Amino acid sequence: MGVGSVNSSPFWPMQEGINEIIATVGLHAAPIGVICRDNRIMMAVFRTSHTASLIEESGLVVANIMHDPVFFVRAAFSDLSPEEFIEMNVAGRPVYRISSSLSWVVYRATIDQKTEQKLLISLEPIETKLAQSDLVPINRGRNSIIEAAVHGTRYILTRDPVLKQMIDHHVSLVKRCGGKRDLEALCLLEKFIA
Ligand SMILES: Cc1cc2nc3c(=O)[nH]c(=O)nc-3n(C[C@H](O)[C@H](O)[C@H](O)COP(=O)(O)O)c2cc1C
Repeated sequence: MGVGSVNSSPFWPMQEGINEIIATVGLHAAPIGVICRDNRIMMAVFRTSHTASLIEESGLVVANIMHDPVFFVRAAFSDLSPEEFIEMNVAGRPVYRISSSLSWVVYRATIDQKTEQKLLISLEPIETKLAQSDLVPINRGRNSIIEAAVHGTRYILTRDPVLKQMIDHHVSLVKRCGGKRDLEALCLLEKFIA
């Protein structure tokens, strides 16, 4: 896939499919998928999460586009400290992004549907900043730490052994293919899910 096809995405700067970002609402952060399909930009957020109620209250959410696996694990399992956020003024309102995130989109968020489990949220971009960044080759270790973190967020709630098997599979890929930062994220993840 060339740079051109990425830039011409109708969902720019997101791409078709599910984009894993760190969502911030106020001084709260959690990894969430931004779903881009059929000309719609959406989030599906578990109602058990703080993120769901915060988005419902605020009507705005920031998608921090980041590749740092340590941030994904920390934001999934713990609270970031207030000093890790920076305030911006968007549409006359204060919104917060992660200060080390150089690319972000502020979305207006409208609740489309409430199921027993999830909020389905429609997103409309109102301000976007995209840092110039080089293409990063795909690394299976980096992909796997994100997969292990997703499964980990369900595993701590259910202790489902099938999830544990999937986590173990991804852990072995992180160890085989990942770099230092992936291994650091893995160490944190293992503590959070123990
Ligand atoms: C890469 C990644 C993607 C995730 N995507 C979603 C998502 O789309 N919707 C959701 O409800 N939870 C998602 N999660 C799980 C939440 O981040 C996790 O449940 C988090 O603890 C919620 O935090 P909160 O209760 O503080 O809001 C994802 C986790 C990871 C690691």
